[in-house]
Amino acid sequence: MLIMKAKPARSVRGILKMPGDKSVSHRAGLMAAIAEGETKIANFSAAEDCATTLKCLAELGVVVRRDNSGVYIRGIGLKGLRAPSVEIDCGNSGTTMRLITGILAGQSFDSVLTGDESLVKRPMRRIIEPLQLMGANIESDAGRAPLRIKAVPHLTGTEQTLQVASAQVKSCLLLAGLYAEGTTTIIEPIPTRDHTERMMRWLGVDVSETTVANGKAISVNGGAKLRAADIEVPGDISSAAFFMVAAICLSDSELVIEGVGLNPTRTAIIDVLRNLGADIETSAERTISGEPVGTITVRSGVRPPDGVDRSVISGKTIANLIDEIPVLAILGTQLPGGLEVRDARELRVKETDRIAAVTEDLRRMGARLTEYDDGFYVERSRLDGAVVDSFGDHRIAMAFAVAGLLARGETEIIGADCANISFPGFYETLSTVVS
Ligand code: S3P
Repeated sequence: MLIMKAKPARSVRGILKMPGDKSVSHRAGLMAAIAEGETKIANFSAAEDCATTLKCLAELGVVVRRDNSGVYIRGIGLKGLRAPSVEIDCGNSGTTMRLITGILAGQSFDSVLTGDESLVKRPMRRIIEPLQLMGANIESDAGRAPLRIKAVPHLTGTEQTLQVASAQVKSCLLLAGLYAEGTTTIIEPIPTRDHTERMMRWLGVDVSETTVANGKAISVNGGAKLRAADIEVPGDISSAAFFMVAAICLSDSELVIEGVGLNPTRTAIIDVLRNLGADIETSAERTISGEPVGTITVRSGVRPPDGVDRSVISGKTIANLIDEIPVLAILGTQLPGGLEVRDARELRVKETDRIAAVTEDLRRMGARLTEYDDGFYVERSRLDGAVVDSFGDHRIAMAFAVAGLLARGETEIIGADCANISFPGFYETLSTVVS
């Protein structure tokens, strides 16, 4: 187990690129596999989670080749997947498990999906129940993996309203919709990342969207064919968030992060930081493979608006920055009135309970916090170096590497290697811009 030592820093300066977006990479791999023709995916994420998705596809008979120029996938069409001869191991990746289940639920063969210690504790009822309404036959261990998916003659299109604001659930059901008879409509009361809808369109599928009384209705027709098309993956804005917070918190910093995904369902982190008075510019904006990208320039300093004695993030915006909350907690220690996060109960069912993890580790560093069932309030606090735990969660490890830059004395992060789950080379990249 890697123990990472972080030392206090004065500033961060430089020009960086982020690894390919994790969410987009998963979707690119999965949809290229069931498309017709060969797809080249450039800038596919180096994350272990995305390699897991490719490995799972190989177990389903998909030919995947990877070299320095990208990932090449020979699509086998909607009906071309082969029955796996082993249990499919989704490792630490909730996105892999939930999205692949959408594809496997409508197959004419059985399959079993499992995962690591963390993944088998995460809630799967949120996909099992809506898939069952479409006619899927899935057994689980009281709503947890392993998932035993049985062959069914076909699924049936349904209209369902998302019960959890989760892009993974939405994506699972849209993928299942490709295998259903008739139309599948998902009503989304709270907007979540829309990479699945964009990727389906990029590969030629007609995905319709209408505004309805309780949100947005997204529909896809059963049997709609995906056609191979080259894909370039944007840089990961959730990875960029660690660097953005470091630059904001350290004086005399300026970071330029090029080619970052600026999909509006992911940029709440930029909006929130700007509302806190951070100096962030976006430029060189363009669209690649249906996704907006651009350059982010971020400089030192935050200044919440006058009269705000406690900054609060809550409500619908939470779904659009859920992965950035651990590092926002670190920023909270530097804000004049601290930071309160509410409506974020979902954090408790991520790779670890991120509310408990952030609270515990920040306390070890001397911060004053209140923990709520659905969030926390972190007061402005001076951080002291301490021994903290990643709890096996990549975003906790990386958030506390940033905390270590702001603290007095040395911080040790136990189990720091889990950063590889989303960002291999994170600590090296950070060290290239820190002084
Ligand atoms: C993801 C969606 C989010 C996010 C996860 C990736 C995706 O999960 O936390 O890291 O790729 O769809 P939920 O949709 O379950 O909130």
